[in-house]
Amino acid sequence: MRQNRERYLIMETVLSGIRPTGNLHIGNYFGAVKNFIKMQEEHNCFFFIADFHSLTTHPIPGDLHGHVKTVLAEYLATGLDPEKATIYVQSDVPEIPEMYLLFNMNAYIGELERTTTFKEKIRKQPDNVNAGLLTYPVLMATDILIHKANKVPVGKDQEQNLEMARKFAKRFNHMYNTDLFPEPSAYNFGEELVKIPGLDGSGKMGKSEGNAIYLVDAPKEIEKKVMRAVTDSGPTAKNQDKPEAIQNLFTLLKVVSSTDTYNYFDEKYNNCEIRYGDLKKQLTKDIIAFTNPFREKILEISANDAYLHKVVTQGAEKARESASKTLKEVRNVIGFRKF
Ligand code: TYM
Repeated sequence: MRQNRERYLIMETVLSGIRPTGNLHIGNYFGAVKNFIKMQEEHNCFFFIADFHSLTTHPIPGDLHGHVKTVLAEYLATGLDPEKATIYVQSDVPEIPEMYLLFNMNAYIGELERTTTFKEKIRKQPDNVNAGLLTYPVLMATDILIHKANKVPVGKDQEQNLEMARKFAKRFNHMYNTDLFPEPSAYNFGEELVKIPGLDGSGKMGKSEGNAIYLVDAPKEIEKKVMRAVTDSGPTAKNQDKPEAIQNLFTLLKVVSSTDTYNYFDEKYNNCEIRYGDLKKQLTKDIIAFTNPFREKILEISANDAYLHKVVTQGAEKARESASKTLKEVRNVIGFRKF
């Protein structure tokens, strides 16, 4: 009974990260950061900046350095609180590369080659198919398992990486006859994982797709982007299915506007009375109302180097404490020298 109660009282561990490849966009916010902020209230949370992962695309050192700072400032400006969550930079935790090496021994080339993200990357960067791209899911599993995280708030595009992390956790436990690792699962408060679309008519919003609205974008910039978004000549019959480009605008409306606003335009569409210009104006207004408070804070926090330094220094210390504990257990289970 007492044991059960104690178990109940132990908080679940949550972990997630974002690659420092540029400013955060509203896809990152609704797919990931919004959940981070909620979860830090009642979980043991680790949120980090995945700078090792970003090396797979060979950034210039100056850009890497700047982008780490950007993501950190944007984490803090959107509401991540270093008093509630451990916020750190991946490369500040040397236990991660060691555990990554150990996990690589239990990951098979065939399964890594079959992942959709790897196949996509080969297509996108055929001149840079490096080994880091192949073992990307192993590093991601390491990030998660080194803190024994149970829940991983991510967008829909990370689903397969999470499946791999579960597979590696199970495989390790089975191989060494241990229950060291929990099986982590992807998580979203809204239950379904989110995919925020871009403004170019198809696919998801992405930093490298040129179709994103950034949290730091100035109102004029947002207006320009939304007004340029792809549409069509309008529905020709009542209650017609929405083509992808139009559905995308409605998906954006759903996350930034009120239910009434969404229903209003949905009804207009279903009655063939929609004017896309009106919808875009409303969407622009609602996106600006949503991002503006973040924008001001981002600019303020980005200028405060002393605060940023303090946050990541403290974060690295806490993250290393947790990571080294797990790594010690892993080394022990594997059977490294004890004498
Ligand atoms: P990254 O940097 O590509 O994206 C960061 C987070 O934002 C989510 N996201 C989206 N969600 C909804 N709609 C979109 N259009 C959209 N675009 C991005 C992503 O799903 C992600 O949650 N591999 C990870 C980083 C990582 C990680 C980890 C995550 C490294 N180790 C361990 C969790 C746990 C990545 O590249 O995310």
